[in-house]
Amino acid sequence: MVANEMWGGRFAGGPGKIMEDITPSIAFDKRLAEQDLAGSRAHVRMLAIQGIVSKEDAEAILKGLETIGGEIAQGKFVFKRALEDIHLNIESRLGEIVGEAAGRLHTARSRNDQVATDLRLWIRQACERAEAGLKALQGALLTQAQSHAATIMPGFTHMQSAQPVTFGHHCLAYVEMFERDRARFADARKRLNECPLGAAALAGTSFAIDREVTARTLGFARPMRNSLDAVSARDFALEYLAAAAISATHLSKLAGEIVQWSSPQFGFVRLSDAFTTGSSIMPQKRNPDAAELIRGKTGRVLGDFVALATVVKGLVLAYGSDLQEDKERVFDAADTLELSLAAMAAMIADLQADAGAMRAAAGAGYPTATDLADWLVRVLKKPFREAHHIAGAIVKRAEEMKVALDKLPLEEMRKLEPAVTDEVFSVLSLEASVASRMSLGGTAPARVREQLVFWGEKLK
Ligand code: ARG
Repeated sequence: MVANEMWGGRFAGGPGKIMEDITPSIAFDKRLAEQDLAGSRAHVRMLAIQGIVSKEDAEAILKGLETIGGEIAQGKFVFKRALEDIHLNIESRLGEIVGEAAGRLHTARSRNDQVATDLRLWIRQACERAEAGLKALQGALLTQAQSHAATIMPGFTHMQSAQPVTFGHHCLAYVEMFERDRARFADARKRLNECPLGAAALAGTSFAIDREVTARTLGFARPMRNSLDAVSARDFALEYLAAAAISATHLSKLAGEIVQWSSPQFGFVRLSDAFTTGSSIMPQKRNPDAAELIRGKTGRVLGDFVALATVVKGLVLAYGSDLQEDKERVFDAADTLELSLAAMAAMIADLQADAGAMRAAAGAGYPTATDLADWLVRVLKKPFREAHHIAGAIVKRAEEMKVALDKLPLEEMRKLEPAVTDEVFSVLSLEASVASRMSLGGTAPARVREQLVFWGEKLK
């Protein structure tokens, strides 16, 4: 066993066998290759500007990095476990390509500030992808809402039919949630956009580097102010994971609705063959697998957040190898979220709402009882509590006669409240109920159409 070629100066032997299994991160951090190359380019350019390396060496290094970028893009680069991680793999290959000059790249830098920089760059892009994925999903929901601004469906509380709402209103509720999710990613992206490069191992460096230059080159707003913080902070990764976890809970909620809605018992929506699978034993089945899987994958994303939060909890300053555990959590959450967002957007675009089934379900369970009580308050000037009581008695009578509220004869209502007039029928239909919900944010189709205009502008 030989000492490590990159840092083995004072080591007589190589690491123990088990270290070869526990130390390497290359299997997953090769996903940081692009960011690592960008960081190295910015660093070596700055070193040349500052006269810390010669122009010739910098040129040679930049050319070598370009070659490596090409090799990686073409799948020709050989990643070696013995070289632990992406940083050492690239540096070692650079040595093979450009010789001695390669060794000057690591001046005034450490893998600690390097990996922190790479991961910030990676997550910055992941935030942008999440924002784009969310926006596409909002667009699909908006399209459904535009077709169904006045489509009546039952609104539920406690999973009991509560009051009728419109399907468009329901879709726009999710557009709101995903808008907040998008803002969370944008916010995290803005806050993480400070550059750790130049913090070196933990204390800064004695070389006269210019951190403004590297920060600017990499598109960061500014260098991080404190070198200890720069190499050890992972709250930016936690913020990304928290935003992903919250998005995932919203996706799971919508997925859960689709699972219910597409069941034969509900029949509110139909998914095409492209988004359902059959059963190997029950020929009648059309399973909404994608929705169930999206719902299930929420567990992974929440788990990723909890796992990294547990890693960083109680960690002292500055860098510790514990931090190597950050990347897989971030990659897993990003892969899962991006796949879920794409699948959900496609499924929403695909689904066909069954307005008839929704309306029939909305009529069951006396959902306009509140409208009746409100009418008794407004027209007969009853206190709401008394009105609630009278409306309850009228619902009971309708139930006994097995008719909908708007089909209950006026005489029957009058037996329970003599002052009721036939004007009451103007509020008892589903359409009237929905149309009357004109308060700000209410479900009235006229209000929903206002919201459609707002979102149409915003998501353009
Ligand atoms: N592979 C390491 C990581 O993922 C890079 C930093 C290693 N630094 C060190 N001093 N061992 O965090």
